[in-house]
Amino acid sequence: MTDPRLERLLAAVPGLRLKTDPADLEHYGRDWTRRWMPAPLAVALPGSVEDVQGIVRWANETGVALVPSGGRTGLSGGAVAANGELVLSLERMNRVLAFDAVDRTLAVQAGVPLQVAQEAAASHGLAYPVDFASRGSATVGGSIATNAGGIRVVRYGNTREWVAGLTVVTGAGDVLELNRGLVKNSSGYDLRHLFVGSEGTLGVVVEATLRLTDPPPPTNVMLLALPSFEVLMQVFAAFRERLQLEAFEFFTDVALRHVLAHGAQAPFAETHPYYVVTEYATGDEREEAAALAAFEHCLENGLVLDGVISQSDAQAAQLWRLREGITEALARYKPYKNDIAVRVSAMPAFLAETQALLAQEYPQFEVVWFGHIGDGNLHINVLKPDAMENDAFVAQCEQVTKLLAGALQRHGGSISAEHGIGLVKKPYLSSTRSAAEVAVMKGIKQVLDPNGLMNPGKVFDA
Ligand code: MLT
Ligand code: ZN
Repeated sequence: MTDPRLERLLAAVPGLRLKTDPADLEHYGRDWTRRWMPAPLAVALPGSVEDVQGIVRWANETGVALVPSGGRTGLSGGAVAANGELVLSLERMNRVLAFDAVDRTLAVQAGVPLQVAQEAAASHGLAYPVDFASRGSATVGGSIATNAGGIRVVRYGNTREWVAGLTVVTGAGDVLELNRGLVKNSSGYDLRHLFVGSEGTLGVVVEATLRLTDPPPPTNVMLLALPSFEVLMQVFAAFRERLQLEAFEFFTDVALRHVLAHGAQAPFAETHPYYVVTEYATGDEREEAAALAAFEHCLENGLVLDGVISQSDAQAAQLWRLREGITEALARYKPYKNDIAVRVSAMPAFLAETQALLAQEYPQFEVVWFGHIGDGNLHINVLKPDAMENDAFVAQCEQVTKLLAGALQRHGGSISAEHGIGLVKKPYLSSTRSAAEVAVMKGIKQVLDPNGLMNPGKVFDA
């Protein structure tokens, strides 16, 4: 290792592990976007809060920028290190620290994978209800940094609701203990919430105290086939009125075709244009009758064409695979991802407008619609034709995203529902956040990260 800055880092943080192999720089320098060429200076793997603090102090002395890094499953370029930054990976800080049965909380280091936190909660007879398909690789710290949503938001809300306390190292090198796991705390600004969704731009989340809840009720999974997009929100209303929904997700036939090509089993003999997979509580006969009533109501009113109810855990998993397998099945097409949100009540009007808009603007591309429709969150993935250069493809997609941003402005929505702004959505931040809001964000960053070293260039340019 010849770089004097790294020699100085090792001297300042004894015991720090550093990786500088080209293969490691590439691996740790990118996330699932695969759009930028990774080019970090090195990868640091601290083992303690003190190590992280030492790294941040070193960054302030040397001027080297830091990119905090979790499981790098992000879809907006938030964890990309393409400009000689030091990647600060929380990979070694992966311990569950404590469970408190009275507070119903789980304290973890930020590098704990989401699934490990879920399993630790379950081993104490409780649940950590944040859940999404990349649960095995995504970390708790990364999910906090993006305020991750996922498949159970319709029932439990976003990550933010489940963070009882945070320990962070700010960009200035201070260690802050935020909210201390309290249920009630009316003592000034709640700085914890500033760090939730801050995408590593204010500091590094090093530990979190997660709120736990009762284990989920027994559930069933139902797959519905729908005749049109227009009926989607009516089906949602019919099911929500009669059942306690744990999840309500939609996808198109195009999405299904890709998942089937990836090895999943076809759910129906015929194909249908739209599908919904829903999971609902079903502890007793009354709930089962309510599920059937919801289905029959939809069938009689022409809102659904067919349906299947899981008869076993294995079948439930099979039905879920049809939805959860979409991202993986599409990955080989390097999709351009839109992750947008409007209020659920605004969804019908927004859907009508965007469907027409995208049909007109994307005639040359395959467009895959799916998402957490019960939360007002749509994923619109545009697939890159194999023969097309990536830059030209992205440039064309961005023209359409501008139009989409206009529609979101009109319908009061957001350009990022749950993936974050990162690099991908930075040009559109102003479409859904006012100039005054962005100015406040910049002011906050200036206080917590005075030298602009924390994940620079992500979310906005300072
Ligand atoms: C999902 O819900 O599957 C992901 O957030 C969406 C995506 O891959 O675009
Ligand atoms: Zn999603």
